[in-house]
Amino acid sequence: MDERTRKEIKRRRTFAIISHPDAGKTTLTEKLLLYGGAIQSAGSVKGKQSDKHAVSDWMELEKQRGISVTSSVMQFCYNDYCINILDTPGHQDFSEDTYRTLMAADSAVMVIDAAKGIEPQTRKLFHVCAKRGIPIFTFINKLDREARDPFDLLDELEREFGIGTYPMNWPISCGVTFKGVYDRRARAIHTFDNFHGGRNRLNVIECDVTDTQKLDELIGENLREELCEQIELLDGASFDFDVEAISRGKLSPVYFGSALNNFGVEDFLEGFLEMTSAPLSRASDVGTVSPFDDGFSAFVFKIQANMNKAHRDRIAFLRIVSGKFERGKEYFHVQGKRPIKLSQPQQMMAQEREGVEEAFAGDIIGVFDPGIFSIGDTVCAKESKVTFEGIPTFAPEHFAMVEQIDSMKRKQFAKGMDQIAKEGAIRIFFEPDGGFERVVVGVIGVLQYDVLKFRMESEYGVKYLHSALPFQFIQRIANEDINIATLNLASDTKVVRDVFGRYYLLFTGQWSIKWAIDNNPALVLEDFDRI
Ligand code: G4P
Repeated sequence: MDERTRKEIKRRRTFAIISHPDAGKTTLTEKLLLYGGAIQSAGSVKGKQSDKHAVSDWMELEKQRGISVTSSVMQFCYNDYCINILDTPGHQDFSEDTYRTLMAADSAVMVIDAAKGIEPQTRKLFHVCAKRGIPIFTFINKLDREARDPFDLLDELEREFGIGTYPMNWPISCGVTFKGVYDRRARAIHTFDNFHGGRNRLNVIECDVTDTQKLDELIGENLREELCEQIELLDGASFDFDVEAISRGKLSPVYFGSALNNFGVEDFLEGFLEMTSAPLSRASDVGTVSPFDDGFSAFVFKIQANMNKAHRDRIAFLRIVSGKFERGKEYFHVQGKRPIKLSQPQQMMAQEREGVEEAFAGDIIGVFDPGIFSIGDTVCAKESKVTFEGIPTFAPEHFAMVEQIDSMKRKQFAKGMDQIAKEGAIRIFFEPDGGFERVVVGVIGVLQYDVLKFRMESEYGVKYLHSALPFQFIQRIANEDINIATLNLASDTKVVRDVFGRYYLLFTGQWSIKWAIDNNPALVLEDFDRI
C-alpha cells in the first residue's frame, strides 16, 4: 500500500450517531457539520413545525412526520481528520435500518436528553453497539434546560449498560442557572452565556478551577463551592481514564453540553476525534481483513431507492473495509459471482452528493444499483473474494395483506413491491402459488406501513388495499425438499414464500408453532433473526 493511501485511511473516523427521538441527535449532527464547514448556516435544526428541515432529513415523509426515517451518511473534514457520520433513524419502527448502519460504523455517539436519561430506544441501540464492542461516546444534551442530577445520570448509564463512564467535563448547574462546564483535563471552566444562545460559535471564558476569586465572579460562591465538592468526589470515586477500555467499548467518555446553543460541541468533537480510532478491521470468511490490506473490499449495508426526487434511482451504500476505491476500476461482486464496475460512485456532503474519484477504507460510498445488490453483499478486488460476516437480519413482527386494486397498474405494483423488498427493510412474501397480485408484507414497526404506502403512491403511482393480518411470528422452513402441500398445520398458520423461493410459516402464537412441530416430525424450522 502506498504512503498516501495509508495516510488517508489513518485520518478517517466513521461513526454512527444514535439517540431516542428528540434527544437532539439532528441538532448535534448539524452543529458538527457546521464546524467542518460542510454547511454554511445552522439556523438551528428544524424538523418539526417550521419549514427549515435538518439536512439529514431527506424524504418527503420525514418532513411531514418530522422524524428521520432513513439513515443518511455525511462526510466532512475537521482539522486533519476526514469524518463520516452515519445518521440513524431514531424511531423504533426503523430500528432494523439503524442496526445495519451500526455495522458500518467504527464507533457510536449516543445523545442523551439530560432531563430524561436513558430512554427505550437508547437502550436498544446501545445493546447493538455493545454486541460489536465498538467505542461509545456519550453526549448529555440540553443542559440549558432543567436536567437530572449528573451523578444520577452517570449512575444510570453504568447500572443499565454495565459499562464505566468517564465524564470529560462536568456541568455547573442547569436550566436558567446553567453556568457552563468544568473541563476535567484542562482543569478549567468554560462558561456558558445565555446571550450567546443559538449563535454559531460560542466564546468560552477559561478560568483555572483554583482561581477562587475569578470563579466566584463567574459562577458565584455557592456554585463554586458545590463544583469544588463535586470535582473532589469525581476525582476520588469515578473510573480512571483508560484509553484501552474506551476502545473496547467498556468505558464511555461523557460530555455535558447543549447542542442547540452550540455549547460543548467543539470540545466534544475534538476530544472524540482524539480518542476514537481509525477504521477497524472486519471479520470475514477468510479471516480478519485490515483496512491497510492492499486490495479494495467493501460491503453493502443499506440499499435505498429514490433518495432524490430529481434522480429516480436506487443506491447501494457500501462501507469500504480495506484499501482504496478507484472510479472506473473493475471489481468483483462476490454474491453475483461476476466482475463489476461501480457506476456513478458518490459521497454525501451534507445534502449534496458529489461524484467520487477515489475513496478509502472507512469511507461510505453510494453506488448506482441496477437491482443486483442485496444487503450484506461484498464487492472487492478481483483477487481477494472475501465475504464479510455479521450483517444482521431481524424477524418482522407485524404482517398485512396488500392487494392491488387497479389491474391497469399491475406492472407498477409488482415493480414497486419488488424493488422495496430488495432494499431489505420491508419483507414481501407471496402465497405459495400466488404472484404479485396480492402479497404479504412483514415489518418490524407499523410506521413502515406508512412508508410503503407513501412510496408506492409517490414513486410508482399505485394505491392498494391494506388489511392487517393477525400473525406475530415467522419461522423459515429449513428443509427445502419438504412437500408444502402435505404439511399438517393449525388453521391459523399460513405458508408463504419469498422472492428467492424459500418457504416460511406465519403463526399467531407460540402454541401454533408447537402444533406445527408436533404434527410434522420431518419439519425443520429455523429462526428468521440472524445477529
Ligand atoms: P432528534 O434528532 O434526536 O430527534 O432531536 P432534534 O435534534 O430534532 O431535537 C429535538 C428538539 O430538541 C428540537 O426542538 C431541538 O431544537 C431541541 N434541542 C436540541 N438540542 C437542544 C439543546 O441543547 N437545548 C434545548 N433547549 N433544546 C434542544 P423542537 O421544539 O422539537 O423542535 P424545533 O421547533 O425547535 O425545531
